[in-house]
Amino acid sequence: MRITSLQQYHEAYEESVKTPEKFWAGIANEFDWIKPFTKVLDWNFDDYSVKWFEDGQMNITANALDRHLKTIPDQAAIIYEPNEPGDEAITLTYSELHARVCKFSNVLKNQGVVKGDRVCIYMPMIPELAIAVLACARIGAIHSVVFGGFSAQSIADRINDSECKVVITTDGAIRGNKTIPMKETVDDALVTCPSVEKVIVKTRTKTPVSMIGGRDLWWEQEENEAAADCPAEAMNAEDPLFILYTSGSTGKPKGVVHTCGGYMVYTAYTFANVFQYNPGEVFFCTADIGWITGHSYLVYGPLLNGAKSVLFEGIPTYPDAGRFWDIIKRHSVNIFYTAPTAIRSLMGFGDEHIENKDLSSLRVLGSVGEPLNEEAWHWYNDKVGQGNCPIVDTWWQTETGGLMISPIAGITPLKPAFATLPLPGVQPMLVDENGKEITGNGVNGNLCIKYPWPSIIRTTYGDHERCKSTYFSTYPGLYFTGDGCMRDEDGYYRITGRVDDVMNISGHRIGTAEVENAINMHTGVIESAVVGYPHDVKGQGIYAYVICEHPTINDDLTRKDILATVTRVIGPIAKPDKIQFVTGLPKTRSGKIMRRILRKVAEGETSNLGDTSTLLDPSVVESIISGAL
Ligand code: WTA
Repeated sequence: MRITSLQQYHEAYEESVKTPEKFWAGIANEFDWIKPFTKVLDWNFDDYSVKWFEDGQMNITANALDRHLKTIPDQAAIIYEPNEPGDEAITLTYSELHARVCKFSNVLKNQGVVKGDRVCIYMPMIPELAIAVLACARIGAIHSVVFGGFSAQSIADRINDSECKVVITTDGAIRGNKTIPMKETVDDALVTCPSVEKVIVKTRTKTPVSMIGGRDLWWEQEENEAAADCPAEAMNAEDPLFILYTSGSTGKPKGVVHTCGGYMVYTAYTFANVFQYNPGEVFFCTADIGWITGHSYLVYGPLLNGAKSVLFEGIPTYPDAGRFWDIIKRHSVNIFYTAPTAIRSLMGFGDEHIENKDLSSLRVLGSVGEPLNEEAWHWYNDKVGQGNCPIVDTWWQTETGGLMISPIAGITPLKPAFATLPLPGVQPMLVDENGKEITGNGVNGNLCIKYPWPSIIRTTYGDHERCKSTYFSTYPGLYFTGDGCMRDEDGYYRITGRVDDVMNISGHRIGTAEVENAINMHTGVIESAVVGYPHDVKGQGIYAYVICEHPTINDDLTRKDILATVTRVIGPIAKPDKIQFVTGLPKTRSGKIMRRILRKVAEGETSNLGDTSTLLDPSVVESIISGAL
């Protein structure tokens, strides 16, 4: 499974294209199967359906935990770094993690959770979040982790979409010097969630919380009363493992569904190869488990490889902007995986926070979530890697489950700001607006993938048509990523950003329509239009154009009120950076908003707005420009 040279990479790649089934079967057979598979792949991108290893049975936790008990029971699996730097870090070894997962699996079973049930997890970054995820996987319940920064309304939407039976949360969360309510937010959500029967609450902050008799249970108490043994449920490879909601260009977030077998094989394979993980090394992924990066490269990928994975509760700037570097020293981190927005933000705090830190344990650096611009690349390389660590700029998506286009650390020759080459099994294709393939090098186009890989999205929960229309209908026969991409003279790939109405704010995916819907809920707002614009730290910022019913009396106050509404409806991550009050929006005669113009104004590029002759009222544009922020 391990690639150790550039030549081997090319050989593996070629094999994965020529004989994909043989290639992936060979890798899949390195895992423990309860019942071996005989069929490798069945697929159809026209009437979308993909099945990998479909008649095989396995359990991902048997591979991520039990398999290592024979060889490395006493090695660290999860190293928990608490929010307070002075607090003791807690290490869970493979045998301890296994025991905690088995116990909590029994807690879930005692509450009537069975295979196929959906469980919502809304927790801060503490070990119990990983334990809850793995316990679901062990008994075959489908976990749906909701990022701890989402509002009650967002939690409710997600719970209701997949009809979760149980919610797992904490009393509160601690991030930096803030204490944040969790249970209270869940309580607000549950007012409109009839499917939820039980809420399990782990203590973290000792914040007083309401506990409703017959519904709410304390994690600690249930854990004490649960039996220790819990065999891993035999799962069909194509049984759903989890749902993770993500934003698209239209409507409500959709529940991306990943299944057990393919996801296991692909996350394990990509983790081992891209980071060139060596036994005993410490891996630190700074992503929250509430996002796909945390699922695949904090929990599943590392544990499947018997790795030591750091789970950090806090924020990069608490107690100061040197926190990541202190953690690297404290735990002798060898591989560090973070997002460009974090790099740019820390860069902005000044080099004094990094200059005297001992980063000598580092061997490999990784980046994910948005384009890593050259300036940030160089700072990452010079200051963090001290010129000694290859940087893997990994391009992938919630829908792809695992890394897709990425260097292999120390093996693929690098180029700043390039995700470089596709990993084995990944067959990218650039197409033009009409879906025609763009061949050759030194070209730009929309990025599609023409062949399935094991952890490709299987469906969007409860709405397979939506999955088909979102990903497989723009360019028939191809998976469309939503990203624009350049392939340079050397055949290297550089992702240029989304080409749809999805924004990427600090590496978080947010749909323009979602933010507009939230703004429109604010009293007195008639209509709004939201676009992304370049932002030095966040990558993109949110610019909102808002039409109010009456002229605002105090613009600043109304802006703050609108932010409060957006925070309540979605969460603080979706708050616009700029709100411009306008009297009209540039619309075509058919009523479509010309976002192109709004994007240009937001970017401050008003000299060349292109053709505006099809606008219903071209004078609107003048007034928008004159009021631009
Ligand atoms: C963007 C995160 C440039 C891209 C794993 C993609 C990137 C979206 C990179 C998916 C990268 C991710 N370079 N852009 N290395 N990685 N993106 O679903 O636009 O949260 O479509 O998954 O992030 O975001 P998601």
